[in-house]
Amino acid sequence: MGYRETYQSWQDDPEAFWMKAAEAISWSKKPTKALNDANAPFYQWFSDGEMNTCYNAVDRHVEDGRGDQAAIIYDSPVTDTKRTLTYAELQEATARLGGALQAKGVAKGDRVIIYMPMVPEALVAMLACARIGAVHSVVFGGFAAHELAVRIDDATPKAIIAGSCGIEPGRIVPYKPLLDDAIEQSAHNPEFCVILQREECRADMTARDHDWNAFQQDAPHAAPVATKGDDPLYILYTSGTTGQPKGVLRPAGGHAVALHWTMSNIYDIKPGEVFWAASDVGWVVGHSYICYAPLIYGATTIVFEGKPVGTPDAGTFWRVISEHKAVALFTAPTAFRAIKRVDPDGSFIGNYDLSHFRTLFLAGERADPDTIEWAQARLGVPVIDHWWQTETGYTMVGNPMGLEPLPVKIGSPTVPMPGYRIEVLDEAGHPVPSGTLGTIAAKLPLPPGTLSGLWQAQDRFKKSYLTNFPGYYETGDAGMVDEDGYVYIMARTDDVINVAGHRLSTGAMEEVLAGLPDVAECAVIGVKDELKGQLPMGFLCLTDGITRPHADVVKDAIARVRQEIGPVAAFKLACVVDRLPKTRSGKILRATMAKIADGEAFKMPATIDDPAILDEMREALQTLGYAQN
Ligand code: COA
Ligand code: AMP
Repeated sequence: MGYRETYQSWQDDPEAFWMKAAEAISWSKKPTKALNDANAPFYQWFSDGEMNTCYNAVDRHVEDGRGDQAAIIYDSPVTDTKRTLTYAELQEATARLGGALQAKGVAKGDRVIIYMPMVPEALVAMLACARIGAVHSVVFGGFAAHELAVRIDDATPKAIIAGSCGIEPGRIVPYKPLLDDAIEQSAHNPEFCVILQREECRADMTARDHDWNAFQQDAPHAAPVATKGDDPLYILYTSGTTGQPKGVLRPAGGHAVALHWTMSNIYDIKPGEVFWAASDVGWVVGHSYICYAPLIYGATTIVFEGKPVGTPDAGTFWRVISEHKAVALFTAPTAFRAIKRVDPDGSFIGNYDLSHFRTLFLAGERADPDTIEWAQARLGVPVIDHWWQTETGYTMVGNPMGLEPLPVKIGSPTVPMPGYRIEVLDEAGHPVPSGTLGTIAAKLPLPPGTLSGLWQAQDRFKKSYLTNFPGYYETGDAGMVDEDGYVYIMARTDDVINVAGHRLSTGAMEEVLAGLPDVAECAVIGVKDELKGQLPMGFLCLTDGITRPHADVVKDAIARVRQEIGPVAAFKLACVVDRLPKTRSGKILRATMAKIADGEAFKMPATIDDPAILDEMREALQTLGYAQN
């Protein structure tokens, strides 16, 4: 069946469509129905079924004869390490860690925070939690102690599993002091921590800490614990409008069903093939396509620890694809922009045999035409943009390569996938004609595997996503649909920006800046950047009587955001201004500021280290009467 027939079959009978998809999952108790809408607009999927995600991702493949197949290939140019875990080894590892956690009292429904770099043990930890029905919450390593503390207080974990350090180009990032600081800052205290000691930087242990190896040495093996279809598998915090992140709740059953469906129909992968998502387990792409989907499907996943350029050169991606025979790569456009910048001709590509490589998938941020065309020309394979979010966990709009590759229109992630009725709405909530810009919304219910809510914040869930346009899920993105039904994603409608494919909240940065005694008022906007897509830029109005040099205030502001939110915020641009553009009612006109930054009056230079940027921006604002001389 091609795309149109498949989409139509879903529209005609969603219940039958998802019940059929659910047959690909091993249930300990089969669901009798797919959708449960008794509590609408809070929907449940497969809620009377029972299953275990780790069993589906690991054990059943061993039972089906894949025990000796590689489940995880770890490739870490930054530590010069390569290692393979077979499905049988992964089963043993998850059962042992799960057993050790159970022996320490971690039970179904308890939360466990995971704060780890890109090592296979991060996946083992996630799967071990899934195995015993504990709810994991992975926190990205680039977040600082304060962000971790906020998540500890919200998720109230019984345990935290962490690595002793992460490795960034030219520096080792000790995680343990950040973890200790976070626990110090948080009101909630986990009962214990499990620390994976890495040789690059061993952690000092406290009475609360257990060594990863010793902790599980004599542990009994845990059997998979049955979870209800709608029981949460994980909480993943993502940026919203404020400094309080949203804890996206992922229900277990629908997640397994939907992700399995995507592997063949969207990514065109066969069980046993190697699929590589070059992201981080701290993001949703890492959850869905480094960990769960490839494993639930019986494919091999690559855990890559490193950057696309620099260690050792701009050929790293091609080396990994070639050496491990990856048939598809999924990454953010920013990674390709980084490669293109240092190797514009793609001269490293020719050094590697990529004959088995079939498709490049891009997501996480807008895929700019230059990057798509560069990749198409250099790699000679289809370059497929697709659009989704932490909230949905998988593609809303894409090009279903396994069902039927559709013509690529550069600038569009293509068409809605089954499960999603995408509409573009005007402010009053009415659908607009094709070619007209508006808010992008998805008709409720969202399909299986999408968020069931926000952790302990169902009111916020309703207010953030379901209130402005009753009957719809509001995506937070604006765009349009063309006459062929192709969707175009143009911009966020809220205070979320996308930096190097990482979703960040300008509101959270403003909260940090507003806490500085020198700062009376501030605004942070996203400005265009050639490499990272967007960069945050701060505008500071000073408290009366501040006489310190502005450069010192700016330096402190930059340091504070790095310390509070983390290096991943990439907050390196800020300037002092007289006042901020506002509406009559006092609302800061961030959109106007962003337009100034991106408009004729002001052009972002290629490098962010150039101090002239700030002067130019200030000048641009000054001509509009906002900045001081
Ligand atoms: N732990 C600690 N620090 C981290 C980190 C981690 N896990 N990840 C990033 N950081 C740090 C970086 O070292 C950098 O610090 P710096 O300011 O001292 O240089 C800062 O956070 C910003 O990181 P980033 O924006 O990622 O920039 P980068 O220069 O390190 O790398 C790319 C740029 C494009 C190479 C990288 O972002 C990339 O490969 N992105 C594409 C893939 C991806 O991860 N997509 C996410 C969702 S699909
Ligand atoms: P995240 O939740 O981190 O995956 O970020 C989701 C947001 O990233 C979306 O709401 C979009 O704003 C943006 N995004 C993701 N994929 C795309 C894409 N293919 N094209 C344009 N924007 C995208």
